Amino acid sequence: MRVTNRFLLYVSIACVVADAFEPITTTVVVGLGVTLGRIIYNYSQESCDSKWVAFNATGLKVDLEQKLFGQHIASRIVLKALTGFMNNAQPKKPLVLSLHGSTGTGKNFVSQIIAENIYKEGMDSSFVHVFTSELHFPHASKIDTYKSQLQQWIKGNVTNCGRSMFIFDEMDKMHPGLIDSIKPYLEYYDKVDGVCYRKAIFIFLSNAGGESITQIALDFWRAGQDRQTIDLKDLEVPLSLSVFNNKQSGLWHTSLIDKNLVDYFVPFLPLEHKHIVQCALAEMEAKGMVKNHEVADQLARDLVYFPKAERVFSVKGCKTIESKLDYYT
Ligand SMILES: Nc1ncnc2c1ncn2[C@@H]1O[C@H](COP(=O)(O)OP(=O)(O)OP(=O)(O)O)[C@@H](O)[C@H]1O
Ligand SMILES: *[C@@H]1O[C@H](CO)[C@@H](O)[C@H](O)[C@H]1NC(C)=O
Ligand SMILES: *[C@@H]1O[C@H](CO)[C@@H](O)[C@H](O)[C@H]1NC(C)=O
Ligand SMILES: *[C@@H]1O[C@H](CO)[C@@H](O)[C@H](O)[C@H]1NC(C)=O
Ligand SMILES: [Mg+2]
Repeated sequence: MRVTNRFLLYVSIACVVADAFEPITTTVVVGLGVTLGRIIYNYSQESCDSKWVAFNATGLKVDLEQKLFGQHIASRIVLKALTGFMNNAQPKKPLVLSLHGSTGTGKNFVSQIIAENIYKEGMDSSFVHVFTSELHFPHASKIDTYKSQLQQWIKGNVTNCGRSMFIFDEMDKMHPGLIDSIKPYLEYYDKVDGVCYRKAIFIFLSNAGGESITQIALDFWRAGQDRQTIDLKDLEVPLSLSVFNNKQSGLWHTSLIDKNLVDYFVPFLPLEHKHIVQCALAEMEAKGMVKNHEVADQLARDLVYFPKAERVFSVKGCKTIESKLDYYT
């Protein structure tokens, strides 16, 4: 649609201008207008081709290594999952990741890193869609409307671009009915109503299971064991138990887990003082400031940590660092 409109617009501008000229000039001007239109179109309009949508495995690896702090497990799973899926020309089902952890540990941040290494426009891409239950689906009474709307959105967007990404934030607050309505798109069906969903990416973010992840991390810390030695298998059982037993999140998880629709559960560990310092330094750099270790350390020390006596993990992770930085500098 837009191609034609823009195209016609440039042609007609060229034609209006051309009216005043001789036939030969007219041809030149029209030709010029058309070429100009094509060039502008080429450089302005995001399209679902390799110019705008191309996976950069190296970029993802480097970003996870350099920008994401204290999440060795999440980092490894995400890289493995994305690389495997994106290099598979014929995936059997869409990629479904479920990111879990307490607040400010980097779940949205990781979704952003993923988007930036697939879409040239990153989170601003018209092929990346973020749904927040409280923002998009606030009223439980309108659930039926939301259901059909969400299904139409997913279908419409995947029809536009098979390599679409859907991020569901605050998944634990999402109405179970809505989750049921997206289930068909996550399954192994070859096609649903003639649309192929197998190249799409679904990412669920939630705090569900965050407490049990934190408890394990604390056990390791108290036993004097290095955080890096925490393994996915140390977290899997407690995570799934707490997620299953959580009344709010239990429904969506059971319905998705039962059918093995989630490919990877990705745990995010609570962050320690040293990670907060890293976040503060990164933020200084992002703001174009000179990195100041003393200020970063002071800022990190002033945050709230738990458990109260030992002060091991930041209550809000790396959240609020950005706004706090203004106060310290
Ligand atoms: N592990 C991390 N490494 C680097 N930066 C981080 C990390 N965790 C958080 N941050 C920084 O803090 C900001 C807030 O984190 P983010 O929004 O990803 O948290 P979240 O896990 O989604 O929390 P919530 O559960 O409250 O939504 C990020 O934009 C990022 O700048
Ligand atoms: C537009 O882009 C395509 C490939 O993306 C290229 O082949 C074509 O030459 C470009 N056209 C112009 C006018 O730049
Ligand atoms: C991929 O990422 C790497 C590392 O960030 C970067 O150097 C490279 O230019 C990127 N490649 C493309 C095609 O964008
Ligand atoms: C794609 O999703 C967005 C919501 O992110 C929605 O507003 C839009 O209408 C959808 N597009 C189609 C073609 O369905
Ligand atoms: Mg978040």
